[in-house]
Amino acid sequence: MLSDSFGREVTDIRISVTKRCNFGCVYCHDEGLGPVARPRAAHGEEMTPAEVERLVTVARELGIRSVKFTGGEPLVRTDLEEIIDRTVRQIPDVSLTTNGSMLAARAETLRDAGLKRVNISVDTTDPEEFRSIRKGALAPVLRGIRESLRVGLKPVKLNMVVFRRTLPNIPRMIDFAGSTDGLKLQLIQFMPELVHHREWMVDMQSVHRWLEEHSARVLVREMHHRRVYIIHGAEVEVVDPVFNPDFCSHCHRIRVTHQGELKGCLNRKDDRIPTRGLDDLALREAFRQVITTRIPYYGGYITDLPPQNPSPQLSPGPPRESPSRATV
Ligand code: 5AD
Ligand code: SF4
Repeated sequence: MLSDSFGREVTDIRISVTKRCNFGCVYCHDEGLGPVARPRAAHGEEMTPAEVERLVTVARELGIRSVKFTGGEPLVRTDLEEIIDRTVRQIPDVSLTTNGSMLAARAETLRDAGLKRVNISVDTTDPEEFRSIRKGALAPVLRGIRESLRVGLKPVKLNMVVFRRTLPNIPRMIDFAGSTDGLKLQLIQFMPELVHHREWMVDMQSVHRWLEEHSARVLVREMHHRRVYIIHGAEVEVVDPVFNPDFCSHCHRIRVTHQGELKGCLNRKDDRIPTRGLDDLALREAFRQVITTRIPYYGGYITDLPPQNPSPQLSPGPPRESPSRATV
């Protein structure tokens, strides 16, 4: 296994297969690839299944043990099953981050191709609010969740981006996740870096405090030192990288853009290493280079950390007593 000069082993690779997306979320950071990707015609920059397989083969040789596919929206690619099929031959632990809107029809074929788990983005259980934030419909996403559970793509992690507009939804989303076996909730801190809305951020410390007060148990994962709260029968994981050196110092993940460029960090734009056209030796060398030159973004690359409370103190509010509106 390879480590960087900060002692961080790389165990995990996140591969973008497209920049395209059929949604237009107000918060979209587009995986660090640029401005929000509106739906548009297929373009030739995207890696082929064979190119993905080649990268994954080298990743496995270097000790990487899990793969996550992401976008844009990975399901805009009609050959995602082939990509997954080729990937699991090298690294069996393959998961997918999706907006879920096109998932119901393909959950089974994806599972048959070897997919193990899915992360589905859901920030609210209210259809109007969902449309206003995501520029898409909630109902197909709920169908995607249901179908994923049915075919055994478990756990289904619900990704909720926590920012000003969604903060009050946390109790309802916890109810939602707790209401069905196989669902987990991930509270993802809104990352302002590539969206330029610093004022949308909320104070995650008060979210942690609220969760701690209401939870039966708290665990800490090795990856990113993420906290996991067991609360009201739900498992709630907090992903809070912004201004958080502890998160970055426990980051074991490298990334690949849809064009096949290796990246050591989501937030940086200056660390891309193109791999197209490299022979096997040069490709291995590119992996070594991206891994050994990784720098923790917060604490290493950004050393001038602003005050921890960028927004007024806000907390999710009282826990809800009544069941959530949406069920799967
Ligand atoms: N901050 C935090 N999370 C984001 N996502 C997209 N943009 C942002 C942002 N600015 C999340 C989506 C999805 C995952 C790929 O990243 O909700 O779950
Ligand atoms: Fe961006 Fe994902 Fe929303 Fe698409 S679904 S706009 S890629 S955050």
